[in-house]
Amino acid sequence: MIEHKHTHTEAHPQSSPSGVANANANTNANANERRTVASLILQVYNGSYSEEFFLNSEHGKFYRKIFLNTMRHLPFIDSLIDTHSKSTTTPALRSIIAMGIAQILFMDSVPDYAAVSTTVELAPKHQKPFVNWILMEIARTKESILAKHTIYDDFPNNFINNLKTHCTGAELHTLLTTLNTPPVYWGLDLNTGKIIRVDEHPQNLKTESDLQKHGVLPMDKGSAMVALETVELGEKIANDNTNVNDNTNVNDNTLHILDACAAPGGKTVAMAKLLPDALVHAVEINPSRFNTLKSYLRGYNVSNVRPLNKDIMDVTPQDVPLCDITLLDAPCSCLGTVRRHPEVRAIKNSCDIQTLQPIQLAMLHHVAPLTKHYIHYCVCSLEPAETTAVIQDFLRTNTEFTLERQGYIMPHLENSDGFYRAVLRRL
Ligand SMILES: C[S@@+](CC[C@H](N)C(=O)[O-])C[C@H]1O[C@@H](n2cnc3c(N)ncnc32)[C@H](O)[C@@H]1O
Repeated sequence: MIEHKHTHTEAHPQSSPSGVANANANTNANANERRTVASLILQVYNGSYSEEFFLNSEHGKFYRKIFLNTMRHLPFIDSLIDTHSKSTTTPALRSIIAMGIAQILFMDSVPDYAAVSTTVELAPKHQKPFVNWILMEIARTKESILAKHTIYDDFPNNFINNLKTHCTGAELHTLLTTLNTPPVYWGLDLNTGKIIRVDEHPQNLKTESDLQKHGVLPMDKGSAMVALETVELGEKIANDNTNVNDNTNVNDNTLHILDACAAPGGKTVAMAKLLPDALVHAVEINPSRFNTLKSYLRGYNVSNVRPLNKDIMDVTPQDVPLCDITLLDAPCSCLGTVRRHPEVRAIKNSCDIQTLQPIQLAMLHHVAPLTKHYIHYCVCSLEPAETTAVIQDFLRTNTEFTLERQGYIMPHLENSDGFYRAVLRRL
């Protein structure tokens, strides 16, 4: 599972306007940190990845930038490595070469000579000549390589084919270009309930405590749109007194919301703050993510949430009352977050999606009897197999719910991550 973090500036840590000064900084940078970047790229080749290094490293932003540039162009970089290698390149060597190529082709702030020398330094002794040769060759032919490069080279074919179910031609080109552009720093202003650009906030919000003090939740626009739609459903139920939950106590006017997959808790906090009369039952299976959720709740001073460290599949009516709304932000491929997490293009494949689909469906079936009015199903993905197909499958066997509406949040139209959500209403 890829952690959703909200720390996404990509500026150079030593933001000198001079290319030469940058070059010196880069050349002198700690080889160990570069080695860590290479090992993170290797993790991606091996199918997993953790962001921890970038959050803790002193020069995190710069190394993060190398990593992100490598990931944004990985299929293209891989094809270049293949055409330049006579024999199979091991994933470990490939990860070193890939970060060198990314700097040469896609990072103007790093001079070619610095990219070559700092990368060769990382290679095992007997492989240094090959790494030096391939990088020098890429640097020498850079212009013709870049002249042939298109946005389609940067994504796996199956990823592009699935996006063709949404759009083709010039629109597909725009979508892919958006997906390879650094994300916008969106947030939700809890004072106004409006989605805002955090980087344009008048209070110059820099730290987590700034954000908390001013009631701003850092979250992608797509995620915030989903949370606001759940809040709207809550307001609709609350405004209709005859609909208000009365299963436990005839005088209980509390709106109960089941947040079935809650951590890290952006949507939980949004719902709790914007629906102060509601009680949100926030379920999270993963203990460390559950702790993140709890600290998020403390940070935003939220009191109307009941966090439960449990598998949603084990949650029964003994754990939660019949809930007016269930938000099921299901575990998914996260392919809709490829803009913020460019590595997902290399990690997630159709096989993962086929594994996730039955889990998503089982979760829907499990939360249905716990839900009185609406299930709001969402995933940060644009893949039909974990969006419309799951809902169709659910409705085929569950006749107690009907599809009220569904739709995608498209990154090129909203300048956001890609999301899908469906509102299912109990008949
Ligand atoms: C897409 S994330 C949820 C994001 C969250 N709603 C937010 O807006 O911050 C999915 C979460 O579901 C959790 N999860 C996965 N399987 C679960 C299960 N069986 N029961 C409860 N939580 C689960 C994952 O650990 C992960 O934290």
